Amino acid sequence: MSWQHVRISRFGGPEVLELAEESTIPNPGPGEVRIKVLAAGTGFTDSFIRRGRYPDFKGPLPFTPGYELVGVVEKAGSGVVAPREGQIVADLCVVGGYAQYAIRPARFLVPVPDGVDMAEAVCIPLAYLTAFQMLTRYRRLIPGETILVIGASGSVGTAMLDLARHFGLKAIGTCSATNFAAVERFGATAIDYRAGDFVASVRKLTESRLGGAGVDAAFDAIGGSHFDRSFACLAPGGTLIGYGSQTMAIGHESIIAAGLGLARLKLWGALSFLFRGRRALWYSITDRRLSHPEDFRADMAALFELLRNGAIHPVVTGREPLAAAKNVHARIDAGGLGGKIVLLPWPASQLVA
Ligand SMILES: NC(=O)c1ccc[n+]([C@@H]2O[C@H](COP(=O)([O-])OP(=O)(O)OC[C@H]3O[C@@H](n4cnc5c(N)ncnc54)[C@H](OP(=O)(O)O)[C@@H]3O)[C@@H](O)[C@H]2O)c1
Repeated sequence: MSWQHVRISRFGGPEVLELAEESTIPNPGPGEVRIKVLAAGTGFTDSFIRRGRYPDFKGPLPFTPGYELVGVVEKAGSGVVAPREGQIVADLCVVGGYAQYAIRPARFLVPVPDGVDMAEAVCIPLAYLTAFQMLTRYRRLIPGETILVIGASGSVGTAMLDLARHFGLKAIGTCSATNFAAVERFGATAIDYRAGDFVASVRKLTESRLGGAGVDAAFDAIGGSHFDRSFACLAPGGTLIGYGSQTMAIGHESIIAAGLGLARLKLWGALSFLFRGRRALWYSITDRRLSHPEDFRADMAALFELLRNGAIHPVVTGREPLAAAKNVHARIDAGGLGGKIVLLPWPASQLVA
């Protein structure tokens, strides 16, 4: 039986995504499983990889993109004790998600509970886990404290606002004016970053804070010189978490400028006593999974429980077949999606209940 996946044979714009057909269904090796992919998340990080600018993946070419997937384990290779065949699992695969089948190492797969929507479930491994770990693993934020979310209308941004509401935090989010509704639906205050100086707006919004104006934590994936502005939004004792280099990814800043942004995070982290306790750090989901695999599993399980209980509400803005990948990437690159488009590799008629 033939099967489909999306292939990238050279780095570039959305046009490099092509639908490919394979004639043989692959078999898992030792320690691996074959997953029938039910949903694949799409997002800016896939676009970053497609452009060939993502630091942690440069090929080899050709490859199948897709940072995260949810699917059913169809076949387990030798030595695999868990997950069992028939189990629905989620994976932060970095590449390989835009496919009807994926061969994946069993060790990082996390069970997905029954009764959740597959498209919402695939928002968990990248966007929600990033948001959850940044909110819970570095600083104890207490209900009533205020966070600043840069890029609040995106996949990670909306996940962060959703979780902030769940944890009782106040949130301020920067986005384009057209995306105010995507931010305000979570009870957050939206600021149009294109309309003026968001630093002044944040300080004005927080001027009555006891102990000094500013936010208790800020989250920024724009990177480079933008980190300066987010750091300037912190209250005394506040924490900035940098987690992306979006302006470098789209070619608006050099790799050197992005590197200097990272260096500044390190400096602020090391010399926080010079900045009234304000500090900064870098977060990477893949680095943290390697260094703290037990946190990865525990946090994924906690998020799936929140999803099952209806405590969180991922924003799925589209459900598309694999053939739409090129168009989906064009929409990601244009910005303003207000959530995540999910690829559903199988037509409903080919899914056995
Ligand atoms: N370090 C990690 O572990 C990690 C994990 C996940 C993601 N990331 C990174 O996080 C970033 C966001 O990912 P995503 O999937 O959420 O992307 P996304 O859904 O495309 O969202 C990006 C958002 O950025 C906003 N934006 C663009 N330029 C901006 C600016 N100058 N100021 C404020 N907002 C701006 C856009 O808002 P408007 O459309 O409203 O303009 C858009 O909603 C990416 O750089 C990704 O690589 C890092």
